[in-house]
Amino acid sequence: MQLYLDTGDVGAVRKWVATGVVDGVTTNPSLIAREGRDFETVIREIVAAFAEAGKEGFTVSAEVTALDEDAMVAQARTLAALDPHVLVKVPITEEGIAAVGRLAKEDIKTNATLCFSAEQALLAARAGAWCVSPFIGRLEDTGEDGMALIGRIRAIFDRHGLATRILAASIRKAGHVSAAAEAGADIATVPPKVFAALFAHPLTEAGLKKFMDDWTAHEQR
Ligand code: E4P
Repeated sequence: MQLYLDTGDVGAVRKWVATGVVDGVTTNPSLIAREGRDFETVIREIVAAFAEAGKEGFTVSAEVTALDEDAMVAQARTLAALDPHVLVKVPITEEGIAAVGRLAKEDIKTNATLCFSAEQALLAARAGAWCVSPFIGRLEDTGEDGMALIGRIRAIFDRHGLATRILAASIRKAGHVSAAAEAGADIATVPPKVFAALFAHPLTEAGLKKFMDDWTAHEQR
């Protein structure tokens, strides 16, 4: 399972891309608005962060803000023209699914977003989306089992030979990442704070301290 960062913070992208284990970034209108910066500039800077780190095969998701099909397709063309690594996020609505289908015919890769059901995921796959994003945390906020949804989508896609990738989104804690991997997600997109938590374990910290203390004592002998 690949790891993406879920952020519009270019500084955070540079920091974590340097670890070599980040394969992409997802943004959404709320994340971009939080930064208070020009949308296209942010997307270009995120692409540049990967290029400067020598990373290949990454994707950067940029979401359309139009709601009708023609306007979504027009916006998607503009976003895709920014860079070949851009993945255009389109919400799963009737208009959005129609737009995904049209964009697939133009070889514009899409991330079908705001997925909360296996039925929506099936529609996205049939339309030709490059990936579909089930929102785990937001589903759990309503009392539903987000990881069970990932497992159901995995089973449906495997059973019917659907190539659309499953991108686990709305990740709220480190445990969501391993659970998404177990449930069969292809990618998990992780906010920077949670990404930092993936590295941490109290026994790693304690073990490293002991090793260093013993090593210092050995050198002073
Ligand atoms: C996914 O692509 C979205 O940007 C994101 O994961 C939404 O997460 P949230 O529910 O924490 O806002």
